[in-house]
Amino acid sequence: MKKNILITGGAGFIGSHVVRLFVNKYSDYNIVNLDKLTYAGNLANLKDIEDKPNYTFVKADIADLDEMRRIIREHAITGIIHLAAESHVDRSIKDPFTFARTNVMGTLALLQAAKEYWESLPEKYEGKLFYHISTDEVYGALELTNPEGVESPFTTTASSTEHHLAFGTDFFLETTKYNPHSPYSASKASSDHFVRAYHDTYGMPTIVTNCSNNYGPYQFPEKLIPLFINNIRNRKALPVYGKGENVRDWLFVEDHARAIDLIFHRGKVADTYNIGGFNEWKNIDLIKVIIKTVDRLLGNPEGCSDELITYVTDRAGHDLRYAIDSRKLQKELGWEPSLQFEEGIEKTVRWYLDNQEWMDNITSGDYEKYYDDMYKNR
Ligand code: NAD
Ligand code: DAU
Repeated sequence: MKKNILITGGAGFIGSHVVRLFVNKYSDYNIVNLDKLTYAGNLANLKDIEDKPNYTFVKADIADLDEMRRIIREHAITGIIHLAAESHVDRSIKDPFTFARTNVMGTLALLQAAKEYWESLPEKYEGKLFYHISTDEVYGALELTNPEGVESPFTTTASSTEHHLAFGTDFFLETTKYNPHSPYSASKASSDHFVRAYHDTYGMPTIVTNCSNNYGPYQFPEKLIPLFINNIRNRKALPVYGKGENVRDWLFVEDHARAIDLIFHRGKVADTYNIGGFNEWKNIDLIKVIIKTVDRLLGNPEGCSDELITYVTDRAGHDLRYAIDSRKLQKELGWEPSLQFEEGIEKTVRWYLDNQEWMDNITSGDYEKYYDDMYKNR
C-alpha cells in the first residue's frame, strides 16, 4: 500500500530530522508535514528537502478538530507520527494552559480525526498506525544516589567514551509508573494516556515511545545546549539553574529519528519503547564540555569563558535526574545509536557556529527582548 504519512510538528527540532529522514529514505511515500509554526516552528529547518516531490507542508493547528478531519481525509493518511507539542518546561511553568490545549486537546483532536477517517474505510484500521512521540519526563525524577557518579552498568555506542557514569542505581523502564511533575510533563503524560485509551477502547493501532533529552542541529535556542553555545559566542551570561547538579541523559537527535523510523516500521502495536543512549551528564559537567568545545573551535584561550557561568534561581519543581533504560528497544528491534557523545557534541557545536544566520534569524529582534525579559523576571 502506498503510504501517506502525516508527521506533526515537522518544522520543529526533532520533527524536522524525522521529516528529512523519511522524505530522503522513502521516495515512494507521501510525507505531509503538519505544523502550526509557533515560535518553535521554523521552515528554514527543512530548506534542503522542501522541493522534493514526495513532501507537502500544511500549516494547521492540531487542536482544530475540523481541520484535522479535513487534512487526514484529503491526504488519505495511513500513518501518523505525532511530534507537535509545546516542549519547553520553563514556558509550561509560566503558561500551563497553552500546554494543556496543544499537548492534551491537540493530541485528542488528532486521535479523534484519525479514528473517524480510518473507521470509515472498508479495511478500517488494517495497515494504519498512530505513533505518538513522548518523553522520559512523564516518569518523574530519579534519585541522585551517587552525586559524583559511578561507572554505569550499561553502555551503547552513544555513551561517552571518557565519561561513562550513572548518578543513581535506578533507571526509567517501560513499566515505570507515571509521576509527572511539571505542567509540561503532566500534559505529555495525559496525551500518552489518551493514545493508549484509543487503542484499548476503539482498537486503534498505536505505539508510544518515551525518549531522553535530544541534542543536535536545529534545536530552538531556549534549550540548554544551543542557548549556551550562542551565549558563549556572544559573551553573554550562562544561567545555570540551582547548583547545576541535575542530571540529564543525552541522545543525538538523528539517532532518535532513526529509532522512530525503525519503530514506525517494525514496532509492536500497543507497545511502548524507551529511547536513550545511557549517557548521563550532570548539567555543570556538560556545560564545561560545551564551554571547552566552543572556545576551542572559536580559537579562544582555554578557560576564558568559564567566567560566564552564572548560578541563578532554580527552576520550580526541577527534576533531579532522568536516566533511560533502552535495552528493550536494543534487544527487540536491534536499535543502536550511531554516534558517540564526543562526536555528537563536536558536530553540534560546529553546526551552530557554522549556521550563525539560522541562529541570528531566531534570536535577533523581538525574541532577544523576550529572552532578556524572561530571564530578568525569573
Ligand atoms: P519543538 O518545540 O522544537 O517543536 C515543536 C513543533 O510543534 C514546532 O514546529 C511547533 O510549531 C509545532 N506545534 C506546536 N504547537 C502546535 C499545534 N498546536 N499545532 C501544530 N503544530 C504545533 O519540540 P521538539 O523538541 O522537537 O519535540 C518534539 C516532540 O518530541 C514533542 O512532542 C516533545 O514532547 C518530544 N520530545 C522531545 C525531546 C527533546 O529533548 N527535545 C525529548 C523527548 C521527547
Ligand atoms: O527529557 C526529555 C525532555 O528534555 C523533553 O521532553 C523536553 O521537551 C526538552 O525540553 C528537555 O527538557 P529539559 O528541561 O531537560 O531541557 P532543557 O534544555 O530546558 O534543560 C536541560 C537541563 O538544563 C535542565 O536540568 C535545566 C537546565 N537548564 C536549562 C536552561 C534552559 C539550565 O541550567 N539553564 C538554562 O538556561
